[in-house]
Amino acid sequence: MSYNLLKGKRGIIFGALDENSIAWKTAELAHAEGATFVLTNAPIAMRMGTINELAEKTGSQIIPADATSLEDLQNLVSQSVEILGGKLDFVLHSIGMSVNVRKGKAYTDQNYDWTQKGWDVSAVSFHKVMQTLYKQDAMSEWGSILALTYMAAQRTFPDYNDMADNKAYLESIARSFGYFFGKDKKVRVNTISQSPTPTTAGQGVKGFDGFISYAEKMSPLGNATAQECAEYSITLFSDYTKKVTMQNLFHDGGFSNTGVSQEVIEKF
Ligand SMILES: NC(=O)c1ccc[n+]([C@@H]2O[C@H](COP(=O)([O-])OP(=O)(O)OC[C@H]3O[C@@H](n4cnc5c(N)ncnc54)[C@H](O)[C@@H]3O)[C@@H](O)[C@H]2O)c1
Repeated sequence: MSYNLLKGKRGIIFGALDENSIAWKTAELAHAEGATFVLTNAPIAMRMGTINELAEKTGSQIIPADATSLEDLQNLVSQSVEILGGKLDFVLHSIGMSVNVRKGKAYTDQNYDWTQKGWDVSAVSFHKVMQTLYKQDAMSEWGSILALTYMAAQRTFPDYNDMADNKAYLESIARSFGYFFGKDKKVRVNTISQSPTPTTAGQGVKGFDGFISYAEKMSPLGNATAQECAEYSITLFSDYTKKVTMQNLFHDGGFSNTGVSQEVIEKF
């Protein structure tokens, strides 16, 4: 099914690693809704993942870019505008990684080089992406920029580790840059705070299986899937959400406003 919500729109999609990735589902749906876009990921992810398959399916070109490298980002943005034949209408930042999480370092025993690396990849990269778009004046008026986040930015989930702090910083960047992008370019900037989702990044979090089941039981509508996240993202790229900006938007089946559910009470 398609509503042609993104007919004629151009964009860049960061972070499609494999078919489970939220960015993968978003790219498939953006294509079905009439958009053209460039796919990008870190050079190392190109070798690990299956992004070529997605590029073929959606008729897209791939431009590798490490999202922490300004040089890579500058090249990505200028090339994308050229390939797509005009300024961009949407950008999806779907990037996250903590070295401390990956290497099993506890929050109370951080390796700060790793903390810094994770912070750069997961949060500052969003600023770098936007600063590059801003300076190159690469966004169309009423364009839409979106990043993905998690509720550990507001409430403590012990195993989420330093990603919690990275997400708090990411959400703050969306608000701060959202002001300037709104005033100067009429572009909106938001974050979607998504349910736990079985992807490579999600499953890297310790105790993920128990946690995703808990969230499912705590959410009146159940966990939001990657596909549903893609659907929500498309609405935020469409012309029907023009005045939504500087928001952190919960997409979690009601989890964030639920104190306790009947199912969880019954477990005790
Ligand atoms: N999976 C979940 O439970 C969940 C929940 C809420 C929010 N999120 C967020 O959704 C986003 C997408 O993650 P996902 O769950 O689809 O997992 P994923 O592992 O499929 O995607 C993460 C992506 O980040 C990319 N990446 C890592 N380092 C990079 C770098 N230096 N430059 C460019 N790209 C880099 C990876 O290659 C990968 O494609 C992340 O921001 C994640 O934190 C995920």
